[in-house]
Amino acid sequence: MKSKKMPDNIYGKYYPILKNVLDDLVGRIQQYNKEEKEKSGEMAYEHLLYRIKTHDSMVEKCNRKGLPEIPCSALRDIRDAIGIRIVCRFIDDIYVNVARIKEMQDCRVIQEKDYIKHVKPNGYRSYHMIVELTEPYEDVNGIKPGHFFAEIQIRTIAMDSWASLEHQMKYKHDIKNQEMIVRELKRCADELAACDVSMQTIRNFIHAK
Ligand code: GTP
Ligand code: MG
Repeated sequence: MKSKKMPDNIYGKYYPILKNVLDDLVGRIQQYNKEEKEKSGEMAYEHLLYRIKTHDSMVEKCNRKGLPEIPCSALRDIRDAIGIRIVCRFIDDIYVNVARIKEMQDCRVIQEKDYIKHVKPNGYRSYHMIVELTEPYEDVNGIKPGHFFAEIQIRTIAMDSWASLEHQMKYKHDIKNQEMIVRELKRCADELAACDVSMQTIRNFIHAK
């Protein structure tokens, strides 16, 4: 007879806890989005994606970083077991989200990377934050309320579409003319960024009337 036990998972008994922490954070982001809509008539973001890193990806990342395949590595040493992506219409909205996240209770920003002001050489643009949340569950250090990490990526629809395409290309190593593709992707990223700036300018004009 098959056992009803959960399949072996790098998160072990912390898996359901991670899901609760993710739900809580997502709920708080959805809440401020509603508040922004009531306040200004416009939502802070267009859509929201979230996930818990799969067992296989987490094991791969542990191996890559020379960490043992245990919950401590997955929840403490690696800080993107919980991943949230906030996709916005306009560049300015990105910074509205950043500000709202910084105001959240029991949420401390411990790392920020602004790849919009400091574009990656390949053209990648996005705002990244690692946050540390205090939640009413025991963490891998045996502390309760515990500390849990999440990675939040905030970007425009244009930045998101580029990142999605570029991500797909990364895994196709048999492509001819790699160099040309990289150059063209960079050009597309810059053109999309110019469009983002124009769209923001149009929106500012509409608001100023
Ligand atoms: P990790 O060790 O994987 O956490 O990377 P890091 O510490 O250098 O973090 P960084 O904030 O630069 O990137 C984290 C995540 O952002 C990645 O897992 C991707 O989802 C995304 N990302 C970063 N750079 C790129 C890029 O050049 N292209 C795409 N498509 N995504 C990127
Ligand atoms: Mg990461």
